[in-house]
Amino acid sequence: MKANLKNIALRWTFLIIVFLVVEIYAFQAFKTVFKNNWTLKIYLAFNALIICNLIYRLIVINNNSLDFSDVFYNYLSIPFAIVFTLFGFKLIISSFLFIEDSSRLFIFFYKSFFSATESNSFFVQRRNFISKISILAAALPIPFVLHGIFKGRHNYRVINYELEFDDLPEKFDGYKLTHISDIHSGSLQEINKVEYAVDLINKQNSDLVLFTGDFVNNKANELNKWKRVFSKIESRDGKYSVLGNHDYGDYVSWKYKGEKKKNFLDLLSIQAEMGFKLLLNENIKIGSESQSISLVGVENWGKGGFKKKGDIDKACEGLTKNDFKIVMSHDPSHWDKILKNHNTRFHLTLSGHTHGMQFGIEIPGLIKWSPVKWVYKYWAGLYHEKNQFLNVNRGFGVLGFPGRVGVWPEISVITLKKV
Ligand SMILES: [Fe+2]
Repeated sequence: MKANLKNIALRWTFLIIVFLVVEIYAFQAFKTVFKNNWTLKIYLAFNALIICNLIYRLIVINNNSLDFSDVFYNYLSIPFAIVFTLFGFKLIISSFLFIEDSSRLFIFFYKSFFSATESNSFFVQRRNFISKISILAAALPIPFVLHGIFKGRHNYRVINYELEFDDLPEKFDGYKLTHISDIHSGSLQEINKVEYAVDLINKQNSDLVLFTGDFVNNKANELNKWKRVFSKIESRDGKYSVLGNHDYGDYVSWKYKGEKKKNFLDLLSIQAEMGFKLLLNENIKIGSESQSISLVGVENWGKGGFKKKGDIDKACEGLTKNDFKIVMSHDPSHWDKILKNHNTRFHLTLSGHTHGMQFGIEIPGLIKWSPVKWVYKYWAGLYHEKNQFLNVNRGFGVLGFPGRVGVWPEISVITLKKV
């Protein structure tokens, strides 16, 4: 217990020191570059305003005993994001100045030991040039972050694929699937933008709409405001869904026994109300007795600490080797670790989960990069291995950071072709 407290105290001390060093460096850079008093005052006032706004909101939440997870997106996500962006800005400035100081320190010691020249150059005022460069470099990402928060999160993209199969039943040649994922309704804010996206889904005029999990962040009631909108999603042969790791209510501290179970049942009934048929380790045939494709829906299965309720063998009960199979599985690591190596051929697997980290650089044909690639081998887009396809949808909504930079919300449209 004592060791634990000591660890916590050490960690906080370290964080406070880093925070202070960053603040001091950033202030010094401003002082060096902007000699005029007014600029410094504006800089300080802006900092104070942003911090006070966040503190005020936290006090309101505390005084009204509001549940943090309920109000985060409507009340805190943007103020938090702005505080983090500002801190990131100062962190970049400090990194430049820290490197400069370290090199000066090195030169100072070097000269003290090996040279007879005076070492008081160490005390010479920090170069104006480095301060200017650091402020410029730190300011560069800010427009992208602000665009990501206010525009990028609604920058819905339709991505079309045409996939060819030799054993596709004749009747399904040209069959169109719209794949969406990770709505995270607790993070949605602007109803007209979401309505626009639903309209875009309907404009694809698909035969099937398939949703691969994370309808909510934490609680089923996040959908109350949105179920009317998502009920409007249309398709000729129905709408099907599976659960994502966020749909189980695992990330909430529930107040009374049975509340988590009630929340889960509520989520199931709201999905049904919206017209989504949820597949829980089960399959369904689309088409007629002689010409059909099988839709296999598994519960969440994720590598590492993520829930492993997905049971592909149970979900495939009753299917034969010759059935054409489309699997819906929230987490692409399921395909990586189990599905692609399974003794059954899963023609096409649909996943989501990664959100492409809501941050990356993608220029079709040129570059496709996001830090999430260090965690998930299959993180966005279409993959083809062992005669099987995987589509990882970049997601519809957001989680954590209330925006998207370079990795946009996605509606995948997949046309099946017979060859
Ligand atoms: Fe998600």
